[in-house]
Amino acid sequence: MNRRKFLEQSTQLSIAAGAFVQSPETRAKNHVRKSANEKIVIGVIGCNNMGNGIMNHALNQPNVECAAICDIDTNIGNKRADEVMRKQGKRPQLYGDFRKLLENKDIDAVIIATPDHWHCLPMVEACRAGKDVYVEKPLANSIGECNVMVKAARHYNRVVQVGQQQRSGEHWQSAMQFIHSGSIGTLRKVHSWANFNYAIGSRIVPDEPVPAHIDFNQWLGPAPLRTYNRTRHHGSWRFFWDYGGGLMTDWGAHLLDIALWAKNIKTPPLSVAASGGNFYSPDFAHEAFDTLSVMYQLPDYTISWEQTAGTQNGPYGRSYGLAFVGNDATLVIDRGGWELFPEIDKGGYKVPAIPKRSGKETHEEHVKNWLECIRTRKETNCPIENGRLVALYAHAGNIALRTNSRLEWNEAAQSFGKNEAANALITPTYRAPWEFPKI
Ligand SMILES: NC(=O)c1ccc[n+]([C@@H]2O[C@H](COP(=O)([O-])OP(=O)(O)OC[C@H]3O[C@@H](n4cnc5c(N)ncnc54)[C@H](O)[C@@H]3O)[C@@H](O)[C@H]2O)c1
Repeated sequence: MNRRKFLEQSTQLSIAAGAFVQSPETRAKNHVRKSANEKIVIGVIGCNNMGNGIMNHALNQPNVECAAICDIDTNIGNKRADEVMRKQGKRPQLYGDFRKLLENKDIDAVIIATPDHWHCLPMVEACRAGKDVYVEKPLANSIGECNVMVKAARHYNRVVQVGQQQRSGEHWQSAMQFIHSGSIGTLRKVHSWANFNYAIGSRIVPDEPVPAHIDFNQWLGPAPLRTYNRTRHHGSWRFFWDYGGGLMTDWGAHLLDIALWAKNIKTPPLSVAASGGNFYSPDFAHEAFDTLSVMYQLPDYTISWEQTAGTQNGPYGRSYGLAFVGNDATLVIDRGGWELFPEIDKGGYKVPAIPKRSGKETHEEHVKNWLECIRTRKETNCPIENGRLVALYAHAGNIALRTNSRLEWNEAAQSFGKNEAANALITPTYRAPWEFPKI
């Protein structure tokens, strides 16, 4: 009998004997350390693009089984269930409502890879149900949702990995060590940028009837009710405020994470200022800005963010990346690797030139780290507080331009002070019957 079964049975016996009844909260807080050869049973909520990728990385590890998949699109759900059947020899149970999946007591942990407006509720409910969680970035589509997710993870004592996978990447770690060791001199500023064609969205098309395989009401969930339009659905929801935040949150969640990591920053910025707009063309379907520049002020550091949807050129010949400017050298990094541009003084390099360090895909390492932490109950490489802080920076960038204001976040008050227009964008109003979760 494994430890989990033993605990379940002893709880049942105790209940039968009337000795004690555990509250759901106590049950969620109880966790079982698993040995390396005990199976971790996962469920996946949202399995089109990223959910499928993360699930497969998990299934490639030993002693992992997928027991259930939940998607509001039955075409996608069935396709993935068939693929999992071929991979593990057992078809996962298919659900359209994540609450049913969470009732499945066999499931230890869930992957949440729904659109951003659908991260908070499933994540909080998964914690309440005693499941560990891999939740995609940005942590949520608002600062208010991120806050309640942090509370849920800690209150229910869950192992949570946020999908900022660079945290588990060897070349990202080595670059951070290089900077932390002082090798580029005092780090004063970082430029970060993301320029992608996809972020312009697709050409505007009229609304149409909801395809039969899609439960569109469940897809909208807590977001405002509206008619179906394909340009706002799978994948391209990212460019509409009710569901996502455009490049600022899509790529900002990754790159601002590195900008903060370089100085081990754990606090919000002193101020945020932004400029930009939608200047590309009126023919494309998006609300999120195609053109955006954001400046974050910190006590001894500035972070700049640049996005230009509809282009793919960028500084240092990269469509996205970061350039850390130190007194002695600039370190430039993207997923392909990092390289150094030393400053020159009196005809010589201020720091020795070193060969370019190449990088590789980091999702699998990040998933491995999550599974390992589920077994050991240790902190993951990207804990929930980190996901929340980075999401706060990214959302504040959008909010600064949406409200045409220079923002100052008050962490104690959890507000932008007297800026009521910005405060109105901290927490969304959920559409009934969905209720904003309380811990
Ligand atoms: N870490 C990364 O590198 C990375 C890369 C891409 C996407 N992402 C993140 O992954 C998440 C998903 O993005 P995507 O590109 O896979 O989007 P997608 O639109 O391709 O897939 C989302 C899936 O969720 C399903 N879904 C929507 N609402 C649901 C609900 N209530 N219950 C169950 N299923 C539901 C949809 O039907 C769809 O199959 C986003 O948060 C995104 O930011 C992360």
